[in-house]
Amino acid sequence: MSQIKEIAVVGAGQMGSGIAQVCASSGFQVRMQDISQESLDRAQGVIEKSLDRLVKKEKISAEQKQSCLSNITTSTKVEDLASCDLLIEAATENVDLKLSLFSRFDQLIKKDAILASNTSSISITKIAGVTQRPEKVIGMHFMNPVPIMKLVEVINGLRTSEETTQTVLELSKAIGKTTVTAKDFPGFLVNRILCPMINEAVFALESGIASPKDIDAAMKLGTNQPMGPLELADFVGLDTVLAIMEVLHEGLGEDKYRPAPLLRQYVEAGLYGRKSGQGFYEYTGGNS
Ligand code: 3HC
Repeated sequence: MSQIKEIAVVGAGQMGSGIAQVCASSGFQVRMQDISQESLDRAQGVIEKSLDRLVKKEKISAEQKQSCLSNITTSTKVEDLASCDLLIEAATENVDLKLSLFSRFDQLIKKDAILASNTSSISITKIAGVTQRPEKVIGMHFMNPVPIMKLVEVINGLRTSEETTQTVLELSKAIGKTTVTAKDFPGFLVNRILCPMINEAVFALESGIASPKDIDAAMKLGTNQPMGPLELADFVGLDTVLAIMEVLHEGLGEDKYRPAPLLRQYVEAGLYGRKSGQGFYEYTGGNS
């Protein structure tokens, strides 16, 4: 683990910015990369706001906030990541994009670096297959919101080496996270269980069993979940939930993973949840 000093985070969206924040807060040098300068600027604002919240709650000091911010640099070029020891990819959840990114990382990033993906459902073995270092490719699946959620799900591809797994488990601990390891099966562990629950809630809504509010209240108050399934779907993004259900349905081949038609309709209508301002609920202020 001691070999990890510099961490590259690719993708400056909700997950990428959270990952950059937790790594930088633990003293690692972080380089956040995105093709869009606008996304990088927005991510820096999100990180600052999140740190401000933690300062206000007296969970960190103002000095710790500054130190975290000063550990993060940004770039729009993948070439600038060449010297990192660990790269964590958190780009858009799209197979073709991830395969082309990893093939590029493999050419540009130093040979002994570990290449991790924060994918929520794409096969790590498949991603590793486009590189010349499959033993150094692994899944690091963070949960949203990254600064708050304690879990990192570590996914071993078919050819991931024991050394890579150990390094990533230790690194995850060093950034304050608890790990579980999962095999490279569709949906891994968390989404294999979580997304069918959300999908079932959408089926319940579609069948007219109850209103969104009552479905969520039932699960919040009846099973002690912090958010009801529909509220959580809006939080994660309905497009993401649909994409994961499609991977489960195709990869496991069982009808029980069939995406709810209403979920598909919401996505087709551009109602993605919080990020678009409307999903099962309406949000004011867009990207809240
Ligand atoms: N940065 C810093 N602090 C944050 C934060 C952020 N981004 N978001 C929330 N917080 C802090 C708040 O300041 C607050 O701190 P406190 O406990 O000291 O007061 C605490 O977290 C709780 O926040 P709020 O009071 O604003 O709101 P809630 O109590 O409703 O909690 C929540 C918000 C933590 C998001 C909670 O509702 C929750 O745990 N929801 C479930 C989240 C979940 O299940 N995530 C996993 C999704 S699945 C996934 O990510 C996998 C993917 O592949 C699909």
